[in-house]
Amino acid sequence: MKNYRLIILTLAFLTVVAQAQKRLTKEDIQEQKIQSLVKKMTLQEKVGLLHANSKFYVSGVKRLGIPELALSDGPHGVRAEINRHNWAYAGWTNDSSTCFPPGTALAASWNPKLAYERGIVLGEEARFRKKDILLGPGVNIIRSPLCGRNFEYMSEDPVLISKMAVSYIKALQSKDVAASVKHWLANNQEDHRMNVDVTMSERALREIYLPGFKAAVTEGGALTVMAAYNKFRGDWCSENNYLDRDILRNELGFKGVLMTDWDAAHSTVKAALAGLDLEMGTDKKDYNEWYFANPLIKAVEEGKVPMSVVDEKVANVLRVMFKTKVLGDVKSRVAGVMNTPEHQKAAYNSAAEAAVLLQNNGNLLPLNINKLKSIAIIGDNATRKHCGGGLSSEIKTLYEITPLDAIQKKFGSSLKINIAQGYEKQSTFNEGSNSGQSNTDKVDWKLIDEAVEVAKKSDVAIIFGGLNHDFDSESFDRQHMRLPYGQETLIREVAKVNPNTVVVIIAGSPLELGGIVNRVPSILWAWYGGMEAGNAVADLLSGKVNPSGKMPFTLPVSLEQSPAHALGNFPGRDLKVNYEEDVLVGYRWFDTKKIAPQFPFGYGLSFTNFELEALSTDKNTYSKDETIRVKFSVKNTGKQYGAEVAQLYVSDPVCTVLRPAKELKAFEKVFLQPGESKTVELNVKVSDLAFYDEAKKGWNVEAGDFILQLGSSSGNITKTLKITVK
Ligand code: BGC
Repeated sequence: MKNYRLIILTLAFLTVVAQAQKRLTKEDIQEQKIQSLVKKMTLQEKVGLLHANSKFYVSGVKRLGIPELALSDGPHGVRAEINRHNWAYAGWTNDSSTCFPPGTALAASWNPKLAYERGIVLGEEARFRKKDILLGPGVNIIRSPLCGRNFEYMSEDPVLISKMAVSYIKALQSKDVAASVKHWLANNQEDHRMNVDVTMSERALREIYLPGFKAAVTEGGALTVMAAYNKFRGDWCSENNYLDRDILRNELGFKGVLMTDWDAAHSTVKAALAGLDLEMGTDKKDYNEWYFANPLIKAVEEGKVPMSVVDEKVANVLRVMFKTKVLGDVKSRVAGVMNTPEHQKAAYNSAAEAAVLLQNNGNLLPLNINKLKSIAIIGDNATRKHCGGGLSSEIKTLYEITPLDAIQKKFGSSLKINIAQGYEKQSTFNEGSNSGQSNTDKVDWKLIDEAVEVAKKSDVAIIFGGLNHDFDSESFDRQHMRLPYGQETLIREVAKVNPNTVVVIIAGSPLELGGIVNRVPSILWAWYGGMEAGNAVADLLSGKVNPSGKMPFTLPVSLEQSPAHALGNFPGRDLKVNYEEDVLVGYRWFDTKKIAPQFPFGYGLSFTNFELEALSTDKNTYSKDETIRVKFSVKNTGKQYGAEVAQLYVSDPVCTVLRPAKELKAFEKVFLQPGESKTVELNVKVSDLAFYDEAKKGWNVEAGDFILQLGSSSGNITKTLKITVK
């Protein structure tokens, strides 16, 4: 009898255990494996996983089968291999990669599918190069037109950034490569980036500067985040308890790796307790002396950092390894490919959809190539290659097609192409200082006279101007927002002799265009176009591709118009900068203050015309937990295939706090044949209409009326509709 009962009890126990095991998810099993590995490690081995052993690698634990972890820049292409212990390139022959147009160009496409396409390519190429973590995307807000890194970031608007970042990250990580969202947080200027202390209101943080990171982590599932160089409210970002522990870990539930930017660590105990996991790039030759090396071992031994804190970090690193199949299911890991025709096509698509047609008086564009006999190609940017610039995002690309290359190849047999330099690059690149931009406004009359001569004898003159990476670069900001090298004079003189003058702007951040808009009929903003830049721009000029990009930032008339400069708080004083403009960043400022910019956020023309019609919602009144289902149609009323970006903004006219005149809440890029019309449905959660209420320390949607504003740019709202929240 006793035996019988024992058997029954044992069976029942085994069934319970079996059921419990059955209920274990893949995730649970992974966590068990992680914990078991952590338990097997010595403190030395654990700490080895928490700091680099060279420029871009982190040691593994051979004894336990944990391999080295390999990291690489960057956001718009996999960077060439760098020597282990110095910054020189390693000189490999298999590391020429696909070069995409940088961040602002991606955002200008307003097409998250292109962000996805890019993520796939970057993932495949990173895997080909045996990389585990790719250091991108950059999701900082474009706060000032002068920030040197604007070209790498995306926009002044958090919704546009979020949509792009989430697609990019999901795609990249689907290829078993972890993204690293950077730079956490408020790295919105390059001047003094290593030591500036940024302060901003909690509301500005929540409404403007945090959403891109939040979306990247919570929706995109970003596996790593890179802590910025600067301080935030008095503490370095890499050891900022509020940002790193309270927000990133506790609020956003981030379980991945928080790493430093290269040489952004400042302490052992403080950083360890705040939640930093991985130290990269510290400027000390002996890796054992890094903050998260021997000093961390000592801090644990002295009881200043509990072992549980180290274990949490090690688990975070191992978790990223399992998720990217560095560990675990290694056999099914993506092997990767490099520079396939599909990859190059993706780079082309990105450049072609990014270009923004700012002006096209008299429909000078598209050029009717068959009817033209001659064309003048003028300007340094017609022949300059840009993929290799910008510092950490520079790319050793397999090839880069310049505008002149492409125009000669595509039209050279039917057109006489007259070439002139127009202006010369007078600047130099000096890492860490924008002094190379000084004295670069010389008007070179000899070059201008030559350009005028070729323009005179050509049916059309195209001037390729703008900037280059002596201006748009990591490690310094621009000195001013003007077109350098005497370009305004060149453009004016060419336009005097040839009324059919087109200006193509190659740049990644805002420029003053007031001196040229009234002088030339057509302006196309083509960004840095990556390896396929020339092919894309030639196809846009000839009409093979219809421009469909929209400005991802406001183009002010002058620098003084833009908020940070109007209030005199860029780049700050005595290494402190307070974001006084608060939530009024970009178009939020211009629209609320009723300042007319040169070209508004979201602006861009097409060779065809569109109409937005029949704006409606599923209801008139909503409660706070509901979703507004917005419907409208977009019609191509012109004669050419093209795409319109329908933009839905919302305003809250009566509120206890000042709210921006409009805030982007949703958008959709719609591709249409001539005459075609499509119905679009966009969902906006009522909770997304909230402002961050400092008094309540939380989001607040006040009951009352809200105005939905539908348009083709922030400056062209063609339909509005009132809804009520109860
Ligand atoms: C940049 C990062 C980059 C890192 C590694 C830093 O200077 O700020 O964006 O990923 O270098 O090259």
